[in-house]
Amino acid sequence: MTAPTTAAAVGLAASAPTAGPVIDLRDARKTYRTGDLEFEALRGVDLRIERGEYVAIVGPSGSGKSTLMNVLGCLDTLTAGTYRIAGDDVDDMDETDLASVRNEQIGFVFQQFNLLPSLSALRNVELPLVYRGVAPVERRARAAQALERVGLGDRTANRPGQLSGGQQQRVAVARALVGEPALVLADEPTGNLDSRSTADVLDLFDALHAHGRTIVLITHEHEVAERSRRVVRVLDGLITSDAPSGRAVAP
Ligand SMILES: Nc1ncnc2c1ncn2[C@@H]1O[C@H](COP(=O)(O)OP(=O)(O)OP(=O)(O)O)[C@@H](O)[C@H]1O
Ligand SMILES: [Mg+2]
Repeated sequence: MTAPTTAAAVGLAASAPTAGPVIDLRDARKTYRTGDLEFEALRGVDLRIERGEYVAIVGPSGSGKSTLMNVLGCLDTLTAGTYRIAGDDVDDMDETDLASVRNEQIGFVFQQFNLLPSLSALRNVELPLVYRGVAPVERRARAAQALERVGLGDRTANRPGQLSGGQQQRVAVARALVGEPALVLADEPTGNLDSRSTADVLDLFDALHAHGRTIVLITHEHEVAERSRRVVRVLDGLITSDAPSGRAVAP
């Protein structure tokens, strides 16, 4: 496991208040404009997620899941409403602040893996620490440790093209967790994986959850959503239900 000093070293303890939700979204609205046309993709969403929760966001295609995820990940801003991440209102942040929130507070996992093809697995996993200015020796050690944790300790030198899809997604998970972020955000992380690799990635999320990480994942797949503890349903830009998953209520 990671040394206890690591979270403090990356500023997690300092930037995250001891109490209060990691995610606090109130009356969130997002309008896209395409030429003269406007489309309201989020129409008043309230969502609070506490530290250590494991939440699945589900809903049909076009319902607003990725829009919501982009807002939660500070990749896009709201048209109206408020979003506080770890207590800080994103409206008060400039681009530099937002970039450091993305880098320090959030680990992203995408359906398409989004690894840099010319870099080895180790270099890909190191990247969040490079942006953070962690010294090379330390960041290499931490990247190697993260790859070890996802079962790829023997593939550190491989480039993404030399790995299977499931292995690439495990590299992406290692990259998401190497910086000990407050929040792991995953948009269809198993969308391109076979059932064996899906199981591997979901086992990793279970382990992250067991270690107190906050996880929010978007999925189309019922079985994937049922691995979380809380399922939020989105339809036409609104939350239509928010309830414990079958797993959370199981004896
Ligand atoms: N950049 C954009 N400009 C205009 N409209 C957009 C834009 N991005 C998304 N939309 C629209 O907003 C709605 C919600 O899109 P979003 O990508 O959030 O859906 P989703 O729930 O993630 O769907 P899927 O399951 O297919 O990924 C859709 O009707 C989409 O066409
Ligand atoms: Mg989507």
